[in-house]
Amino acid sequence: MSERSDNRPRHIAIIMDGNGRWARQRGGPRAHGHQAGFRTTRDIVEACGKLQIESLTLFAFSSENWKRPETEVGFLLDLFLRALQSEVEKLHENRVRIQFIGERSAFSVKLQAQMDQAEKKTENNDGLKLAIAVNYGGRWDIVNATKRIAEDVQRGKLALDDINQQIFGDYISLSQISEPDLFIRTGGEKRISNYLLWHLAYTELYFTNVLWPDFDESELNEALAFYSGRQRRFGRTGEQLVDQNNA
Ligand code: IPE
Ligand code: IPE
Ligand code: MG
Repeated sequence: MSERSDNRPRHIAIIMDGNGRWARQRGGPRAHGHQAGFRTTRDIVEACGKLQIESLTLFAFSSENWKRPETEVGFLLDLFLRALQSEVEKLHENRVRIQFIGERSAFSVKLQAQMDQAEKKTENNDGLKLAIAVNYGGRWDIVNATKRIAEDVQRGKLALDDINQQIFGDYISLSQISEPDLFIRTGGEKRISNYLLWHLAYTELYFTNVLWPDFDESELNEALAFYSGRQRRFGRTGEQLVDQNNA
């Protein structure tokens, strides 16, 4: 864990919110907001690649978003499928490694196959580690990890006494990458909405009123400037960190 944050975050996690309100401001259907939001996503992935950010995790569809009108859910899933078909090749060329987190058994066989293919194709890439959370919920993630741990205990692969925070972290999503340093939520709401509950324990939280389709590289730079001004104490005192840095 790095205590000083005056350099760039290694891992950024984003809740891309505000597509619907962006569309409403323009008197258009919510779908137009999602379409515009998709273009922003493409730009921000590219910007993070250029900035040599190690990992970017994006909330694309939450386990609660199924509660939306059927037409909107259908549009979002279709947009996701089309995005996979149109973007993976280019991401692969840019050495992006794609990973999906969330309960994917709820998706169509076709969509699951596309997700598997995208992961397989890009698994050896050494560029940006892009994780896309779809049908993801932080509570689901914790329960899922717990079930898998219980299974391993039952099979005798893991002893009860060996379970600790580090082992738990091995069973939860994103176990292979560092914890998010910077969380960004667009759209003005100041809540976590069941995102990476386990992972955000010590993440710096940045909220902006900018709606996701209006978020761009300069907004990203503002978030990075906010991050660079934070002192990450991880429980220690500010003086301890100053002493340590002067040593
Ligand atoms: C975020 O934008 C996109 C998804 C949740 C898929 P919203 O659709 O939540 O936009 P608002 O919050 O209604 O403006
Ligand atoms: C969170 O946004 C989920 C995604 C961005 C995919 P929501 O717009 O669904 O969040 P709530 O329900 O308003 O908190
Ligand atoms: Mg929203």
